[in-house]
Amino acid sequence: MEDILGKEGNNFLEFDQALRPDSFEAYIGQEKVKENLAIIIEAAQGRGESIDHILLHGQAGLGKTTLALIMAKALAVPIRVASGPTLKKVGDLAAILSNLEPNTILFIDEAHRLNRMVEEFLYPAMESRKLHLIIGKGPGARTLSLDLPPFTLIAATTRADLLSSPLRSRFGATFKLDFYNNEDIKEIIRRSAKLLGVEVQSLAVEVLAKSSRATPRVANRLLKRARDYAQVKSNGVIDEEVALKTLKLLEVDEIGLENHDREFLRIIVETFNRGPVGIETLAAALCEERSVIEDVYEPYLMRVGFLKRTSAGRVVTEAALAHLNIKTKEQRMLDDYLK
Ligand code: ADE
Repeated sequence: MEDILGKEGNNFLEFDQALRPDSFEAYIGQEKVKENLAIIIEAAQGRGESIDHILLHGQAGLGKTTLALIMAKALAVPIRVASGPTLKKVGDLAAILSNLEPNTILFIDEAHRLNRMVEEFLYPAMESRKLHLIIGKGPGARTLSLDLPPFTLIAATTRADLLSSPLRSRFGATFKLDFYNNEDIKEIIRRSAKLLGVEVQSLAVEVLAKSSRATPRVANRLLKRARDYAQVKSNGVIDEEVALKTLKLLEVDEIGLENHDREFLRIIVETFNRGPVGIETLAAALCEERSVIEDVYEPYLMRVGFLKRTSAGRVVTEAALAHLNIKTKEQRMLDDYLK
């Protein structure tokens, strides 16, 4: 748990702070979400109230934290940042809630990883701004109700489907962040290049954008690596050749697939005859956690049409076979037979 305003060097939000837009005007893309949030903010300000609790969901790197920070800034209220897995005990959450300044935004990242006890403790806090603390143990235990100052919970998750329905129903608004379109990613790259003080030619912007997995965080990471490459191996300007060479060195292909994506697809194709294969079987074959497969590997592969989730399991598409230039065992045998 960290205060993000004013503290130095000791938290993840410092990372990429220079590139993070700090207003709705500077934030590119997600137009509908921005419009909705701006109305919620203006209306609450007009009434002199704190805003409703808000749930933001979408893939990692799409800007959920950034939006929470922008909202706090627009409202000129403090923001405190926590994450689901770090709020292990009810007491952790109680300590935070009971020390909030009025109208603070409490941002909880990875909300789907809150444990049930903590989650249930959150319900009355969200609904009626009360903390129900149990003092003592056994028959002598008493419940102490504490009033909380007005506050707004902004929860972010990559997996809204894993939130319990009582928690989900307590948000006044829920917004889904989608993958970005190519034009928006290009604009983000140009904006970030300007902030980093590096020249990036338009063909290089095209190349980097295509490999950015429709995700600003990836775009900014590739841009920074290309800047390093240009500085060390060239004249500091990111041109098409620098962009292509950077991607090659990082083993990122022209649509943003990395080694682990290719390996994931190859295992389904070669070991499971391109599916359908159940997620648990796949997790065991890859020695990877199911949640990593579902949250990290699959969303982009599904977006580019390389993977389908069916009721029978995961299936790799023809488009993926063509892109990776791989064949199933059956296809290879058929090819040999037809030779
Ligand atoms: N950097 C990361 N995400 C961004 C966004 N959505 N707009 C502008 N710059 C960004």
